Amino acid sequence: MASQTFKNIISKSGTQVPQFYSEKQKAAYTRVTTRLAQESERYFGECVPPVFSIVRIFRRPFSDIIQCVVQFDQKSFGVYIKFPLVKENVEGEYERIHKNTKREVEVTKEFSSFFSNERAVSVPDVIAFFPDELVIVTKEKEGVPLMSLIAQTGKGKPGSEKLDLLKHACFQVGKALKVFQKMPVLNMGKDELPSNLISYVDLRLRLLLEHGFIQMKERLNVVNYLEKQLEKTDGQTLNLCSVHGDFALGNILISGDQVVFLDLGMYRQGPPSFDFAYFHQHLDDLITNPFFLGTTITHLQDAFLKGYSENFIRESPLFLSYYVRNMVNQLLDLSRTDRLSPIKKIYQKWQYRQYLSNLKKVIQKN
Ligand SMILES: Nc1ncnc2c1ncn2[C@@H]1O[C@H](COP(=O)(O)OP(=O)(O)O)[C@@H](O)[C@H]1O
Ligand SMILES: [Mg+2]
Repeated sequence: MASQTFKNIISKSGTQVPQFYSEKQKAAYTRVTTRLAQESERYFGECVPPVFSIVRIFRRPFSDIIQCVVQFDQKSFGVYIKFPLVKENVEGEYERIHKNTKREVEVTKEFSSFFSNERAVSVPDVIAFFPDELVIVTKEKEGVPLMSLIAQTGKGKPGSEKLDLLKHACFQVGKALKVFQKMPVLNMGKDELPSNLISYVDLRLRLLLEHGFIQMKERLNVVNYLEKQLEKTDGQTLNLCSVHGDFALGNILISGDQVVFLDLGMYRQGPPSFDFAYFHQHLDDLITNPFFLGTTITHLQDAFLKGYSENFIRESPLFLSYYVRNMVNQLLDLSRTDRLSPIKKIYQKWQYRQYLSNLKKVIQKN
């Protein structure tokens, strides 16, 4: 059977056969598909083994993904085989990734049953998890990543039809987040507590300061701002809920009215404003992209807020604190330009300056 599985590395998407990044990856793919085929009944509910055809192999910052078609006599469907990347020579890295991958599987399964009665919100079905290979296999969900949808539709001055489509998608995401937060909290991951926020942010500010990206005064302004915001929440009971933890535009699929949550490996318990601020700030990232108009992004943020339907969240001290936290994270990412080409370096440095000035505006305003 192994040879049958192995032979079918053919392209579905065009004439070009997808290339493996390495022999090691090819061997891992073969082992995984062989295991799936050998226990076809268990993984697919079919007595005969399927044929696998690779559609696409792509590398992401933290994983390699092989998208396949699984073909049986009477039916076929897509699967995603995700191989989280483990950085070599980093102490504790394997254990950390192993823990996150296991959490991604467990949390996805919990949400699968929690969402089973929801019409418009879902997660992919987990077909298999091979902890020894550090691999997750999920069934393909229909939909376009929100990031791609915005990139395809929102550039320049989108016409009202295109803008309405994107606004509707963001509205649905806001609504879906509300549903997500109703999930009784699972005891997984390290709690996201506002009391850890200042040390978290300041660690990153110190790095920026150390490398000359900000000045001491700027660091102190951010820390003072956070202290001021968090003081306002003193004495209030902290409302904790399910937090996605990486509620970014690439981790959400949109298909009409349907919202699919992907990539739940960073799940934890925390305040409702955490994911809300995360998403809001990820839309902000597009403001420093010259292809998008600021007004388009503002429309999308407003639609997201409308879907979430808690009008005052954007003025709340916790939202503002997490928003600033995410901005500082983004600044740190933008400050890392050493591996870029000269052109990209210039562009990213320009983005950095834009971002820093936006951060200062937020701090001054509130
Ligand atoms: N089950 C799935 N159905 C449809 N698309 C998927 C599925 N799993 C992954 N993808 C696609 O692969 C991309 C990366 O998947 P993700 O789980 O977010 O990996 P990473 O941890 O590398 O970000 C997603 O943005 C989506 O386009
Ligand atoms: Mg992802």
